[in-house]
Amino acid sequence: MEFVLYEQKGAYAIITINREKALNALNSTVLEELDQTLEAVDLETVRCLVLTGAGTKSFVAGADIGEMSTLTKAEGEAFGKKGNDVFRKLETFPIPVIAAVNGFALGGGCEISMSCDIRLCTDNAVFGQPEVGLGITPGFGGTQRLARLVGAGMAKQMIYTARNIKAAEAYRIGLVNEVYSAEKDADGNEVKSAKEVLMAAAEKMAAGIAKNAPIAVRNCKKAINDGLDVNMDEAIVIEEKLFGDCFETEDQKYGMAFFLDKNKEKVKAPFQNR
Ligand code: CAA
Repeated sequence: MEFVLYEQKGAYAIITINREKALNALNSTVLEELDQTLEAVDLETVRCLVLTGAGTKSFVAGADIGEMSTLTKAEGEAFGKKGNDVFRKLETFPIPVIAAVNGFALGGGCEISMSCDIRLCTDNAVFGQPEVGLGITPGFGGTQRLARLVGAGMAKQMIYTARNIKAAEAYRIGLVNEVYSAEKDADGNEVKSAKEVLMAAAEKMAAGIAKNAPIAVRNCKKAINDGLDVNMDEAIVIEEKLFGDCFETEDQKYGMAFFLDKNKEKVKAPFQNR
């Protein structure tokens, strides 16, 4: 692929948006390649994804402004749908996706990170929805997901003012779960860059998630996502069904038998995805 890299590392995989010269901005080709990459993930063996951007300056600096600049109304709507379809695929992807945000996450960049389950970032990350400064609305889910994540008041402030926020503020308002800085030795020399620290943390989290019972993890994602879209009475029924769905699986039988085994003679074997 021209703009998307995919690397499987055991039970998790890393997707890298690789268009560094344009700060990993999302043009149609990037969106198509992201879609194809998700379609090709081997769900038999991969249990968690990490999504990041190439380089250390930018995660994704938004949808491609050059490509959008000449669109008609109908083409604009179609471009919005193209992005929304891929982002929705990411959001509803059966396994968890961790966004490792290594710098600018603006417009479509902030929006793609919000389609992921968990956001981690470097301390140089900048989040924002600058679209009204370009004469458009956020078009890849920003008007919907930002309000759900940080509340309508904060989302409206960010979107109406088009003001970007730094990593510390993104952390304060709950847009990111954790912020990572470069590791330095006693003399203040950089030992690991913030991106390296971020990726190590994201990969460690992905590997940890991948070790848990896969059907249970998938059902948790579905229960949380689907439950947030309905009222609590319906949400609880969604949970009951997905909870029940775990029973009689090998993983449930094995996971509970291991806990109940007082002798714990066996070394805990990996969960088997069944
Ligand atoms: N689209 C297309 N190209 C982009 C881009 C984007 N969103 N963001 C950056 N680039 C390109 C620049 O045009 C430049 O290319 P050239 O070297 O060929 O000139 C290259 O990336 C480097 O960018 P800068 O020279 O601008 O780098 P900088 O360090 O001076 O600034 C920045 C970095 C503040 C992120 C700045 O690039 C910027 O403001 N980018 C646009 C951010 C933005 O407005 N994003 C929202 C887009 S709209 C959207 O996403 C709609 C939606 O919801 C679907």
